[in-house]
Amino acid sequence: MDNVESAKKAAAIKAIDNHVKDTHRVGIGSGSTVIYAVERLAERVHKEGLRVTCVPTSFQARQLIVTHDLILSDLETTPQLDVAIDGADEADAELTLIKGGGGCQLQEKIVAAAAKLFVVIADYRKDSTVLGDQWTKGIPIEVVPMAYRPVQMKIESELGGKAVLRQAKAKAGPVVTDNGNFVLDWVFDKTYNWQKVNQQIMMIPGVVETGLFVGMAKIAYFGMEDGSVKEREV
Ligand code: A5P
Repeated sequence: MDNVESAKKAAAIKAIDNHVKDTHRVGIGSGSTVIYAVERLAERVHKEGLRVTCVPTSFQARQLIVTHDLILSDLETTPQLDVAIDGADEADAELTLIKGGGGCQLQEKIVAAAAKLFVVIADYRKDSTVLGDQWTKGIPIEVVPMAYRPVQMKIESELGGKAVLRQAKAKAGPVVTDNGNFVLDWVFDKTYNWQKVNQQIMMIPGVVETGLFVGMAKIAYFGMEDGSVKEREV
């Protein structure tokens, strides 16, 4: 296993071991780091007899829960969660996050907001001081398909930078999210007040959700290159 994968795994194990307890209702994030978290959770459930209920943030997360024989629920039956554990594309000094590299930010934000505690797991490449230092692909913004052009133009004229329609890799045309929407990746060129920018983007008709998570994460575990795990709390 290379350094990055080992770092993801170490962070995921620490977060599951520190924050998941018997009878917990757990939000399961999306992405490659969460795979290690679900593996660890399943190991603990099967070895320790931990009783946990899992609420997914995407189709990928749902499949992970099902294939690991974990108890699957949703926000209709389990509207309050003890903890949500998820990856991030970048975290700044205040644990403001960019999320949505995998296009799952809408359900991820809903599930994180339903949890008493939102825990981030990531490798050392995501550990930043200022957003944009490490992650240069921009802030993912989920939009209703018929609105993508006006939203794109409004973001570029009001905020500058470039809002690029995300293209699929193994399909012709744009990426379609689990919710049937498109994603604009807004590549910004300066540092902003992220709370304000998030509100400004959310006010544009056609915007469904942004990948800016402001004031949501309370603790983050970063797997480091040397095999250690760095904890940051706000
Ligand atoms: C999914 O849309 C994202 O928000 C992921 O949580 C984020 O991209 C982190 O993914 P990795 O764990 O694969 O880096």
